[in-house]
Amino acid sequence: MKHLIAPSILAADFGKIYEEVEMLNQSAADWVHVDVMDGSFVPNISFGFPVIKAIKKKSKLPLDVHLMIDAPERYLNEFKEAGADVLTVHLEACTHLHRTIQQIKELGMKAGVALNPHTNIDLVSDVIEDLDLVCLMSVNPGFGGQKFIYNTIPKTIKLKALIETRNAPTKIEIDGGVGLQNAEKLLQSGADVLVAGSAVFKAEDPIETISKLKSIGKDIYMV
Ligand code: DX5
Ligand code: ZN
Repeated sequence: MKHLIAPSILAADFGKIYEEVEMLNQSAADWVHVDVMDGSFVPNISFGFPVIKAIKKKSKLPLDVHLMIDAPERYLNEFKEAGADVLTVHLEACTHLHRTIQQIKELGMKAGVALNPHTNIDLVSDVIEDLDLVCLMSVNPGFGGQKFIYNTIPKTIKLKALIETRNAPTKIEIDGGVGLQNAEKLLQSGADVLVAGSAVFKAEDPIETISKLKSIGKDIYMV
């Protein structure tokens, strides 16, 4: 399967959010990555339902909503209503992860689980077949523009092996510090979805950067 590119709207200019979303509509991006932060699970607050609804109104792409909030099970229905297509919760924020995953799917969304850099992938082993996505955080969540944590590479390889052994349908998403400098290595390691915030929105030509991220590995796929 060809990999997916999910630009993170957190790095966009919110003063012209419709233009930014329209730019993504015109680009080779596959999903819009939407980071929700509550100032408790992570030391930062981003935005909530009205902003997600505004993005949804304009977006032709599915919304990949990444919840960096405590006890996300309190709001699953509201995120569905706001327009989430993929809903990712943090393993570290869920007491009853299995139940939360089932509820996300019952609401008709794809279910993802995100793991902080210190969280071992073995902790998703008992739910892997139920997951549409595992998001490996390659920075400590809370802020865009941070440095990529290299240990994500061996972690991706290990997670890919688990998914293949179990014949699970799960995609691997990498989030944080991703750009043209490490995308190829991540894809070779088994990544399926690349989230890129600063690398896209701070680029001189965001559309071209998205195309480049999307076409990495194309020659390999074509032979
Ligand atoms: C970090 C967020 C990321 C972030 C990525 O807490 O989950 O999605 O927006 O931004 P960059 O690509 O700039 O590291
Ligand atoms: Zn994110």
